[in-house]
Amino acid sequence: MLVWRSCVLRWLGVRIFRKTTFLFVLFWFAFWIFVNGLVFMHRTIFSDFCTDEKSKRILERVCDQYKEGILTGDLCEDLCVSQKVEYRRCLYYENGKKVIEADWRGLPIILKSKLENFSAYETFGLLDYQEMHEISTMDIVFYTAMEIKSSLGLELKNTTVPKLWTKHLEERVEPYSKAELASMWSLLQQEEYTLFKILQDLSKHVVKVLGSCGHFYAVEHLIAGHTWNQNLFCLEELLDPSRVTQKRRALREAIHKIALSFLDMVSHFENDFSYKLHLCDVKPENFAIRKDLTVVAIDVDMAFFEPKMQDILEQNCTNDEDCNFFDCFSKCDMKKNKCGSKRTNSNLQVICDKIFRHWFSPSLVSPKANQPLQVQLQQAVQRCAEPAVEDPAERKALQQHLLSQLYQLLQDSKEQLNE
Ligand SMILES: *[C@@H]1O[C@H](CO)[C@@H](O)[C@H](O)[C@H]1NC(C)=O
Ligand SMILES: *[C@@H]1O[C@H](CO)[C@@H](O)[C@H](O)[C@H]1NC(C)=O
Ligand SMILES: *[C@@H]1O[C@H](CO)[C@@H](O)[C@H](O)[C@H]1NC(C)=O
Repeated sequence: MLVWRSCVLRWLGVRIFRKTTFLFVLFWFAFWIFVNGLVFMHRTIFSDFCTDEKSKRILERVCDQYKEGILTGDLCEDLCVSQKVEYRRCLYYENGKKVIEADWRGLPIILKSKLENFSAYETFGLLDYQEMHEISTMDIVFYTAMEIKSSLGLELKNTTVPKLWTKHLEERVEPYSKAELASMWSLLQQEEYTLFKILQDLSKHVVKVLGSCGHFYAVEHLIAGHTWNQNLFCLEELLDPSRVTQKRRALREAIHKIALSFLDMVSHFENDFSYKLHLCDVKPENFAIRKDLTVVAIDVDMAFFEPKMQDILEQNCTNDEDCNFFDCFSKCDMKKNKCGSKRTNSNLQVICDKIFRHWFSPSLVSPKANQPLQVQLQQAVQRCAEPAVEDPAERKALQQHLLSQLYQLLQDSKEQLNE
């Protein structure tokens, strides 16, 4: 008995003596528990967990309904019959929105839908009480314009509306099928799709819509930003290794070009449409870059044109905080207890704060960071990121000034890199 005990003790002693092994095992065990706990929590809290199995089943259902003639679209044949759309992976699910990566004829694409099931979308109102052949193009234009008015707050010209349909309304002679109407209707209920579609030919700063099948639409796959990435975008993929001798400088140059493209996008969204387009959720994940380093908005669930923005901001309030809608702020009018309908900060301010500060802040690591030009650039970014001034006229002038100053400093700094 005594021998046995001393044996065990000695064995334990030896084991414990091997401290590193013991600690390693302990660490491994704790890590294992931690990871399992995380996975379990994630699965239970977010039951809408993104899995390949689920995504494939969702697409299978789309195809079943295509074969039954319930839905259609220019992508359906390739997705469901000739198998030219190949499933890659599930990217994310968010509040019912499904985002899936696939290959289409060798090109990577992203498939998106706001809701999982086709049946979850409202049906085209006219279909309920009119025969198909009685529905005229004019009816469709009228209903589409109403839908866009309610979803985006935009009044579109009757000539713009037909362009939103995948097969242009005007060029059609034969009447629409029920499946076509129902599919288009499911797409038009997705604000993001409508916004992308309206801006397709107007802007290089929104993602290209490539096609659709039922309620799923395909957009180009681009290099999306990530908060955890050191440069926010994975730029290594873009650099041509044979030509890049000084990787650090090439990366810095790419960042300058991307920043300039962000500024182009800011002034484009501010000036080039009939209404300002407000970005209320600015984070690296919602932007991507093309090969030529153009910045592209890839998630516009939180982008609103001025009229809709005013509707959203006008809330009851007791203090200014009540008037903050994600990255879009207004001020509380204490007399009326109502938020001002005009946004008081700007896309530029938020982009300076959440994107530029990451790239152009004083740093100890970068050897060039304390050159005069760099210091000026850092100061301009810092100033731009600060909350806006009270007076609207002053605010506008300051924003213009900051925009052109940043543009100039970025240009100069980019040229300096090449010296
Ligand atoms: C979608 O439809 C399937 C099959 O009809 C059903 O099992 C699933 O719960 C539906 N999903 C949602 C989010 O309604
Ligand atoms: C668009 O067409 C509808 C139906 O014909 C008409 O009532 C409306 O006034 C038109 N709107 C514009 C802006 O032309
Ligand atoms: C806002 O305040 C007004 C007047 O005090 C009140 O009638 C209204 O119901 C409130 N709206 C909301 C959404 O709380």
